[in-house]
Amino acid sequence: MLEVHRIDVDIASVSILRNAALDLQAGQMVGLIGRNGAGKTTFLRAIMGLASIRSGQVTFDHADITQAPPQRRALLGIGYMPEDRRLVPSMTAEDNITVPAWSVGIPDQEDRLAWIYDVMPETKVFRHRPASSLSGGQQKLVALARALMAGNRLLLLDEPSEGVAPALARRMSEILHTLKDDGLGILIAESNVRHCADLMDRMFAIERGAVESRPLRRKNGGTVPVAGAIPVADASPAGVPARASGELAGDST
Ligand SMILES: Nc1ncnc2c1ncn2[C@@H]1O[C@H](COP(=O)(O)OP(=O)(O)OP(=O)(O)O)[C@@H](O)[C@H]1O
Ligand SMILES: [Mg+2]
Repeated sequence: MLEVHRIDVDIASVSILRNAALDLQAGQMVGLIGRNGAGKTTFLRAIMGLASIRSGQVTFDHADITQAPPQRRALLGIGYMPEDRRLVPSMTAEDNITVPAWSVGIPDQEDRLAWIYDVMPETKVFRHRPASSLSGGQQKLVALARALMAGNRLLLLDEPSEGVAPALARRMSEILHTLKDDGLGILIAESNVRHCADLMDRMFAIERGAVESRPLRRKNGGTVPVAGAIPVADASPAGVPARASGELAGDST
């Protein structure tokens, strides 16, 4: 579905990504793990068309999108959830969710919204409230819902578990599990491999702008075979996440 072939990305003439490569299939959740400043955000932005690629190639369903503008990528079904939520505080949750639909001209907005409310019913509960009145956790769910409005095929999530309460982290895992089962490809950048490790099919390590495939070790002894041979010791799947939607649908705290 997504193939990133040895891309180089510079920011202000400084080389940030070098020969970075990764691939992802529909229905797969892939982790991109690296410490602060490793290049995770730049990598996701390059796939979304928000950072320009100097050399290399990005293909989506075998079509070359290396130089395609972000709007075209959104229309192809790629959605991006940035590190910070970036909601418009005065707009309702629903209006925030539908921003990508009208900004890029997604034709089946109503169907997509119904699908999002089906996958994340808690967002429907507070859809008419201004984003500023929502708790941090609820805002995070709105940001995920907004990414889904465009990204009904491929989701790029930048540190979705960063700084979230355990209940929300469990709920996020549950939602991502549903989306994966629905056939979405999901690429998650995280600084800590423990987040969502139970859902990840494959994992890539990013270090100083270079990406390398690593085997994902699971506690039950099974491994997902991938190229590369560097074990990641702290992959610790937590099992099936508990339902926590009730807490998140309620009033802000
Ligand atoms: N706008 C910018 N101008 C200059 N340097 C930048 C800019 N954006 C990113 N960088 C540099 O690029 C490198 C990669 O940054 P990036 O934000 O992609 O890393 P990251 O892995 O997402 O880090 P974090 O975990 O802190 O979010 C860092 O050295 C950073 O300082
Ligand atoms: Mg980042």
